[in-house]
Amino acid sequence: MTPALWSSRFAFIMAAVGSAVGLGNIWKFPYITGQNGGGAFVLVYLLCIAIIGIPIMMSEVMLGRRGGKSPIGTMGAVAVAEGRSRGWAGIGIMATLAAFLILSFYSVIAGWTMPYIVEAASGGFAGIAAEDSGALFGGLLASPGQLLLWHSVFMGLTVLVSAGGVKHGLERAVTWLMPALFVLLLILVGYAMTTGHFGEALVFLFRPDFSSLTAESILVALGHAFFTLSLASGAMMAYGAYLKKEVSIARTSFTVAIMDVCVALLAGLAIFPIVFAHGLQPGEGPGLIFVTLPVAFGQMPGGGFFATLFFVLLLFAAWTSSISMLESLVSFLNEKGVSRVKAAVGGGLAAWLVGITTVLSLNLWSDFAPLAMFDRFEGKTLFDLYDYFTANIMMPLGALLTAIFVGWVMKPAHSAAELDGQWHPLWHAVVRYVTPIGVLIIFYFNLS
Ligand code: PHE
Repeated sequence: MTPALWSSRFAFIMAAVGSAVGLGNIWKFPYITGQNGGGAFVLVYLLCIAIIGIPIMMSEVMLGRRGGKSPIGTMGAVAVAEGRSRGWAGIGIMATLAAFLILSFYSVIAGWTMPYIVEAASGGFAGIAAEDSGALFGGLLASPGQLLLWHSVFMGLTVLVSAGGVKHGLERAVTWLMPALFVLLLILVGYAMTTGHFGEALVFLFRPDFSSLTAESILVALGHAFFTLSLASGAMMAYGAYLKKEVSIARTSFTVAIMDVCVALLAGLAIFPIVFAHGLQPGEGPGLIFVTLPVAFGQMPGGGFFATLFFVLLLFAAWTSSISMLESLVSFLNEKGVSRVKAAVGGGLAAWLVGITTVLSLNLWSDFAPLAMFDRFEGKTLFDLYDYFTANIMMPLGALLTAIFVGWVMKPAHSAAELDGQWHPLWHAVVRYVTPIGVLIIFYFNLS
C-alpha cells in the first residue's frame, strides 16, 4: 500500500514544525544554555543549526522522499538503488533506536506539564515565591506514583494519534497550535521585559564569553541542534516519505529550522529575565522552566489563565513531537506486516516500560550512576545517560553517516533530482566536507 501524501507543502511544514518544536525548544534549550554559560553556547548552537542541521535536514527529507518507506526501509532501498550494500539501513536502525530511547524519557518530562496545568487552573501559582515554586517541583519529582501516572497518560495520547495514522489530526492541530504558542511566548517575553532584568538576559544569551565554552559544551550544542530539529531519529525521513515530488525541500527545511530557532530564542528571552530577577540559578538543570515560569505567572495579571494556556500548549507541542518519534518504529513495523494499531501500541508500551527507569532516576534511583567509573559520566543517572547517549553520541554519529552517504555514496545526479537545482551544489559541498569534518572534530576534542 502506498502511504497517503501530505495534502500540501503547508501540511508538511506544519507536521515537520510540530515535530521540531517541542520540549527541546522550551524546556531543554533554556536549561542547557544556563548550564553551558550562555552566549558562546548559543552562538555555537546557531552555527550548528545553520551549517550542519539544515543540510542534514535537507538530506533526510530528500532520502525519505526518494525511498518512500520507513527510515530503515528507506535507507536500505536507496542504498541498493545506488548499487551499494543494504547495510546502510544501519543508519535507519540507529535512528529508530534513538527515537525510541528519546520517546521513553520525553514522555516522562512531557507528563510534568499535566500536573502543572491542574495547578495553574486551580490558582496554585498566584503570588508564589521562588522557593515555594522550587518546593512544588521538588515534590513532583519525589513522587514516583505521580510521575508514572502522567507518563502513562502522555504515552497513551501519543499511541492514540500514532495508531490512527499521523496525517489525520496533526495538520489541523499544529495549524492553530504554533501561532498560539508563539503569541503566548511573546506575552511572556513582554512580561519578562518588565522585570528590570531583560538587559542582563540579553547579555547572558547573546554576548559570547568564550572562556565558558568547553569541548563538551560544543558537543552539547551540536547534539541539541539535531535534537531540536528532530534529525538523526528518523522523524524527518519518515515524514519526508509522505512529501509530494514538486515541493521544494530546501525552502521547506529553511522554514522549519527558522521557526524552530525562533521558538527557542523566545523561550530563552522569556525565562532568563525571570531567573535573574528572582535570584534563581541559570544552571539549575532540567527543572529550570518548571521552577521559574510559575513565579512569573504568579505575578502577572491574568496569570492563572496564561499559565494554564501555556502548559496546555507545551503539552500539545510535546505531543506533536512524540508522535513523530514513534513514527520511525511504527512505519517500520507496518512495512513488516504488523498493523498500525498493533505497532503503535507495542512500540508505545515498550517505550513506556523503559520510561519507568527515567521516572525512578528522578527519585528512588537518583544516586544510581551506572557509568560512574568514567569521569564523564560521574553522577549521571539513567535518565541523564539516555539523554547524553541519544543527543550527544547517537545523533551526531547518525548525522555523520548520513552526510557520508549523501555526500560520497549517492550519485550527485540522484540527489540533484530531488533537491532544487540552485541549492544543490552548495548543499553537496557542505554534506561532503563541512558536516563530516565538523562532527569529527567535535568528537575528537571530546575524546582527548
Ligand atoms: N525536536 C523535538 C523537540 O525539540 C524532539 C524530537 C527529537 C522529536 C527527535 C522527534 C525526534 O522537542
